[in-house]
Amino acid sequence: MKKTIKDLNIKNKKVLIRCDFNVPIKDGKIIDDNRIVESLPTINYAISQNAKVILFSHLGRVKEANDLSKNDLSPVAIRLSELLDKEVIFINKTRGKALEEAVKNMQSGDVLLVQNTRYEDLEDKKESSNNEALAKYWASLGDVFINDAFGTIHRAHASNVGLASNLENGVGLLVEKELLNLGKLDEPERPYVVILGGAKVSDKIGVIENLVNKADNILIGGGMVFTFLKAQGINVGKSLIDEDNLEFCKEILAKSASKIVLPVDIHVAEEFNDSSFSHIADISEISNEEIGMDIGPDTIEKWKHILQSAKTIVWNGPLGVYEMPKYRTGTSKILEIISSSNAHTVLGGGDIVAAASEAGYKEKVSHASTGGGATLEYLEGKTLPGLDIISKRD
Ligand code: 3PG
Repeated sequence: MKKTIKDLNIKNKKVLIRCDFNVPIKDGKIIDDNRIVESLPTINYAISQNAKVILFSHLGRVKEANDLSKNDLSPVAIRLSELLDKEVIFINKTRGKALEEAVKNMQSGDVLLVQNTRYEDLEDKKESSNNEALAKYWASLGDVFINDAFGTIHRAHASNVGLASNLENGVGLLVEKELLNLGKLDEPERPYVVILGGAKVSDKIGVIENLVNKADNILIGGGMVFTFLKAQGINVGKSLIDEDNLEFCKEILAKSASKIVLPVDIHVAEEFNDSSFSHIADISEISNEEIGMDIGPDTIEKWKHILQSAKTIVWNGPLGVYEMPKYRTGTSKILEIISSSNAHTVLGGGDIVAAASEAGYKEKVSHASTGGGATLEYLEGKTLPGLDIISKRD
């Protein structure tokens, strides 16, 4: 078990907390503040201990000077201040005198947010490549390091692995909660059912390879399912195909045919938009001109029975073209089914959590992870560098 913020004495200390405030922002407005909300317990705990709370996060990817203003973290400072109902000092720099002076002037209980750590990527990818000097510099600003950025735990950055290498450390309450809930999937109550959607087979190969040995059933939908159907010799018309991974699909189906459950019908359309003619087709009836957009009603009915008897369910990726309301039915209906289940239900981050949140099901599942890539790597059984470096309890 890793040390948590509660195992460390942070009273009146300068606590550096790595959060994942990588939230969708459009025209300076935050579209989904879930990751900020989820970071509040750790920040509030640090405030309650009279710590001086210094927050770090990346936002987006910074490759050229143009990316700086697009990935400015100041809207997060504003939203965080509203949520905490207290001032958040925002420093529009990732290093230098202004930052050092602001830290020096902090009082116990103050909260300060440093500008996007990936601003440092403009020069030799210093943040993303865990530059030693940068990590040491940031570490010099505080006494203790807490990693609460679950969404970034699969990355080895200066602001997570680097800071942990230089300071006494532990995980925050969000990371603790994520590990507790995802940890239940390591020894799942059975039947254990995995639902996988999303566009690309390539994103899910590691997860499928790992979970095919652990799960009782893997239900596959989303854009990726057409490569599986094609691998079975089914005509999928103009549907999305990942030719490079056709062979992988054939092999995994040959090895684990009884575990992998594919749709029996598909909502197909003439064009990839939500205004063209569409209808429900049995998978044996998809014509050359049609494009698969969502799973069909018979599939939902069949999956309902599998899901209703499951004791553990994990789900990553929407089952249809969710951004088009006409093709949300599969995802929405399956969300409805699992939200009334007594199983341990985990939504594996990103799009599916956003869909659940929008449809009002997020609070009805056992756990909605804040990690997208991080959750997938956890499910692949990979070592997570941001966690690996954190000290264990004695
Ligand atoms: C995420 O949103 O998955 C995390 O914040 C990590 O972001 P990244 O993929 O840009 O490293």
